[in-house]
Amino acid sequence: MNIIFDCDPGHDDAIALLLLGSNKKFNVLGVTTESGNQTIEKTTRNAINVISYLNLPYKVYKGESKPLYRDAVICDKIHGESGLDGFEFPKYTMKEEKEDAVSFIINAVKSSKEKVTIVTTGPMTNVGKALMVDPSIKSNIEKIVLMGGSIGAGNVTPAAEFNINCDAEAANVCFISGIPIYMMGLDVTRKVLVTDEIVNRISKINNKASEMFSKLMRVFIDNQKKVFHLDGAPLHDPVTIAYLIDPSVVEMKYVNTEIDCAKSSSYGRTNCDIPGYLGKKPNSYVAVEINIEKYFNIIEEAIKSYNFL
Ligand code: RIB
Ligand code: CA
Repeated sequence: MNIIFDCDPGHDDAIALLLLGSNKKFNVLGVTTESGNQTIEKTTRNAINVISYLNLPYKVYKGESKPLYRDAVICDKIHGESGLDGFEFPKYTMKEEKEDAVSFIINAVKSSKEKVTIVTTGPMTNVGKALMVDPSIKSNIEKIVLMGGSIGAGNVTPAAEFNINCDAEAANVCFISGIPIYMMGLDVTRKVLVTDEIVNRISKINNKASEMFSKLMRVFIDNQKKVFHLDGAPLHDPVTIAYLIDPSVVEMKYVNTEIDCAKSSSYGRTNCDIPGYLGKKPNSYVAVEINIEKYFNIIEEAIKSYNFL
């Protein structure tokens, strides 16, 4: 499976990268970054650090520093000053490629011999812009699997989830493109809370990957408790990769989803018409349930696969 992984590391993005690198079914064409959890400089450095630390053979392409039509926002309350607070990476010499993310996405999709699956775990700016610059790439994109949106309430406004709220226009380009959309929203990601118990379970694996997981998650948990008063940290982004590893980990409904781009308090809302009220053509598979035990077993097995490090 040819994959482009687009992210804004970010604690949960880092674990999604770890999951991606653990499975040989994925042929990763490249990793692209954008601003979101932190500035583009920091998310790009973080992606390079995680890839280098896990010894993954991935190239990194620096993406958009801000949403299509809005100013960049960051989420330092959750992810900290570095965007990956809690773990000290060695000083790596690896640099991002000269080609920017949007150009890479267009060229990689066009030259791929098989259709490409695009996974996004941050704002959808890079992918949305690539589709605007060269709509013809649609024909060689298998699907877009995203962490983002919510059937129910948001997590940055009552209406909207962070990734979509950062750049609703870019998300809208993707959702109306006709490319099959697989949306892993807050409805399922809020159910997979990393707790101290999970961290202790993973720590017992006692390899480099479990050390990174544990140290990052302890900070992620603390910050989520401070900001959202949760009992743990929702491990949002890895749900995308867990789905690709074992689709039975989530239950999905094929519905029409519209992105609210109006300048209102509902900006960035994903209106998932689960009951089919509007009778509009479905355009997205939306996750409505997740098997929590299966999910954390996938995470645990992935971390064990790094015993070679
Ligand atoms: O709303 C959760 C999403 O926003 C996750 O992707 C997290 O990393 C942040 O980007
Ligand atoms: Ca993210």
